[in-house]
Formats: sequence, structure tokens, C-alpha cells
Amino acid sequence: MKPKFEPNAKYQPKEFTFKSKKKVKNILANYPSNQARSGIMPLLDLAQRQMGEEGAKAKKPFGGWITRAAMDHIAEVVGQPPMKVYEVATFYSMYNLAPVGKNLVQFCTTTQCWLCGSTKILEAAEKHLKVKIGESTKDGLFTLKEVECLGACVNGPMIQINDDYYEDLTAETMVDVLIALTAGKKPNVGSQTKRHGSMALSGPTSLEKEAKKAGVV
Ligand code: FES
Repeated sequence: MKPKFEPNAKYQPKEFTFKSKKKVKNILANYPSNQARSGIMPLLDLAQRQMGEEGAKAKKPFGGWITRAAMDHIAEVVGQPPMKVYEVATFYSMYNLAPVGKNLVQFCTTTQCWLCGSTKILEAAEKHLKVKIGESTKDGLFTLKEVECLGACVNGPMIQINDDYYEDLTAETMVDVLIALTAGKKPNVGSQTKRHGSMALSGPTSLEKEAKKAGVV
């Protein structure tokens, strides 16, 4: 679930500016000059990534999130009232409107992942990190979040951590991923059973010759 947007909360920094004017210019160049508001979504993403980069260097790390000051700045950049930016930012689940951990662990608990064991991997993560869904660890390294289908149903149960998918998880491999991240390592992304893409575990069941020819089996 998405945390509430608290525009006047104490944790909201007073100011925000984009570090890279070039990136802002490139985003706006994708749209006609009288449609600059179309750039709201990519600018929100840029702001979130900038906050993530800065936060990762902080003593207590935190991940990417979008401050109210950033939203107000984006409104100025695209020439719209701030409310137009708040509307977009509060609607989409990928925009974090409150501080999150350096690793935002998003659990898909929709039908397919649930049938394949999402409850077990979620419980394993909660137990290992000693936090509940919606909470962050004290060291600022992890935040756990429940989300709807992430579109990788055939490799469920799966999670998304920042920009990466980890699929075909078990309680054990879930914990392995967390241990690696805690140690500052980058776990292998994708299927944790090392299957190729979404191929059946027993190997290709159709187009076998073509798969061999393409060198994927
Ligand atoms: S149900 Fe989990 S990715 Fe679709």
C-alpha cells in the first residue's frame, strides 16, 4: 500500500532543484512546447532517482522518494498549478511520497504469486528483517511494500527491489537476496532457479529446434 502524502510533515525538505538541467531539458524536448505538462511523469521519476542517489550516500541510507518541494518545482517547470503534479504523484504506486529504505522491496501478492507462495516469502522477509509490511528497517536499508501484479506472473512468486525483478523465489532464496543486499552485494536478478526467462523447468516444450538454434537451451 502506498504511504500517505503528508505535504506539511517535518521530514519534508524545504527546497529542491534538479541537479541536471540537461536531463530536464531532454525530457521536455519530447513534447510540444505548449504541452510541457506531459513531462510531469518523467520529471517525477527523475526527482525520485535524484533523491535516491543522494540518500544512498547519507549516513542512514534512504531510497528514492519525491518531496513536496520537488513536486512544487516540477509544477513551476511545466507551468501548471502544484495540484496537477500532486494528482499524478499520488495516483501511481511507483512514486514514493514519503522516505523509503535504500532497497524498496515490493511484494506481489496478487492471485498467481499468492498461489505460488508469496505469503511464505513475505513472512520470511519480515522475520529476517524484523519489520512488517509497510515498515522500514532501522538502518534505513529496507522498506517492505505490498503491491498488485507486477506483470511477471509466470515466474511467481516474485518481488521487485528498486528497478530489478527477483523471480521464482522460495523463503530461502528470499532471505539470500536480503543477505546479499545487506552485505552491499548485487544478487543475480531474474529467476532464482536460473531458468531461462519463463521457459518450463523441464526445458522447451515447443519450438525446441529453434530454441537450440538460437542457443537459449
Ligand atoms: S500475480 Fe504476481 S506478477 Fe502477476
